[in-house]
Amino acid sequence: MKNKRLYIAMVGLPARGKSTIATKLKESLVHESIKTRIFNNGDLRRKMIRGNTSYAGFFDSNNSKGVAIREKIAITNMERAQKYLNSTGNVAILDASNISRNRRERIQSRLNDHPILFIECVNNDEDILSASILRKIDLAEFGHLTREEAIKGFRERISYYQSIEEPLEREKNYIRLDSLHNKVISEEHSDSIPYYEQIRDFLVTNTVKNLYLIRHGETYFNLEDRIGGDSDLTEKGRTQARALAEYFRKKRIPLIFTSQKKRTHQTASPIKEAQEDCTIIPLAEFNEIDSGICECMSYEKIRSQMPEVYGERKKDKYNYIYPEGEGYVTMQERIIRGIKKALYLSNPSDNIMIIGHRAVNRLILSHFMFRREEDVPFIYIPQDKFYYISTTQNKKLFQLKNSSKFYALSKE
Ligand code: F6P
Repeated sequence: MKNKRLYIAMVGLPARGKSTIATKLKESLVHESIKTRIFNNGDLRRKMIRGNTSYAGFFDSNNSKGVAIREKIAITNMERAQKYLNSTGNVAILDASNISRNRRERIQSRLNDHPILFIECVNNDEDILSASILRKIDLAEFGHLTREEAIKGFRERISYYQSIEEPLEREKNYIRLDSLHNKVISEEHSDSIPYYEQIRDFLVTNTVKNLYLIRHGETYFNLEDRIGGDSDLTEKGRTQARALAEYFRKKRIPLIFTSQKKRTHQTASPIKEAQEDCTIIPLAEFNEIDSGICECMSYEKIRSQMPEVYGERKKDKYNYIYPEGEGYVTMQERIIRGIKKALYLSNPSDNIMIIGHRAVNRLILSHFMFRREEDVPFIYIPQDKFYYISTTQNKKLFQLKNSSKFYALSKE
């Protein structure tokens, strides 16, 4: 292992998840005792340059002063990366947009002592991009701007990069990654790239640290076995929510992601109240399965009044789509978007909490924990217990934790 050396150069427009992937990749490699360091151009710019470099025009390729400063930063990081690999390091990750072929050619000619693997993050989902930008503008360098100004400036910055964007295709070693779905779009590499299998495997693994996945408490509809709708929590449901609040009182939960339904919000409220600083973020992506013409009916009523719906769903629950509604199969895409939004909006080291619904939580769980499709609609999702999920490339932890023992503490 000692002799293996690799440069990784990230590629991609701003806010496409490059730094998140670089950070997690580093953690995963370090875990395997592969010495890895990240050389981030943005961080270095903020350290090296005293004046304001956050305004969009700084990134205009016609701004010769900005170009010169950015080039200097890129070269400094390349030199540092080279020094690192020629001393103790195994993997040096250059974290920058590296969006033009020109820049990549300069990296290749300068860093010609060890192989280079380019990893491009591709994601043009508008919603995820907005979520990602919201996290970016939290940086201190945007502190002097209003939220709107910061967003506008950041979008302008992106368009400057877009004007010089050239995707990977000619490079010798590369992976183009759909960073929303963790899918390799295309790849090319010589056999001598060290750690390739580990890196590729990491890129397609869904990872999350400390995710608390909760189902809303009991509702009036639950008592009647009715589906969908927008029912309130029962008294028992409210007690379940207060028990959760007690359970989490000593853990920091900065954000709670819910659906837009009252039952998830009512479950989140006492948890938020017990925290010092906590925001509830309702996402449409986490709304319960739309059961179309069956909304608000009980399973028994569906069976007696719509036997064909009941029978067809029973035959293939995962692929069945309710007339005028959804099925597990059609929900999957929005659930993945919801998970990605929640991850982009959260700080990677923070606890993440999602309060969802039965079908929603089954799909969230199966995103991290492999289940055959036909088994997904039957995953156990109780209301007085919740899942703690922590998955990395090297560890998969799913624990069903019990909050009902906190009932006693939860009395109003
Ligand atoms: O009954 C509660 C509920 O969340 C309904 O709103 C939803 O239709 C159902 O569970 C999903 O579970 P299943 O797919 O098993 O019917």
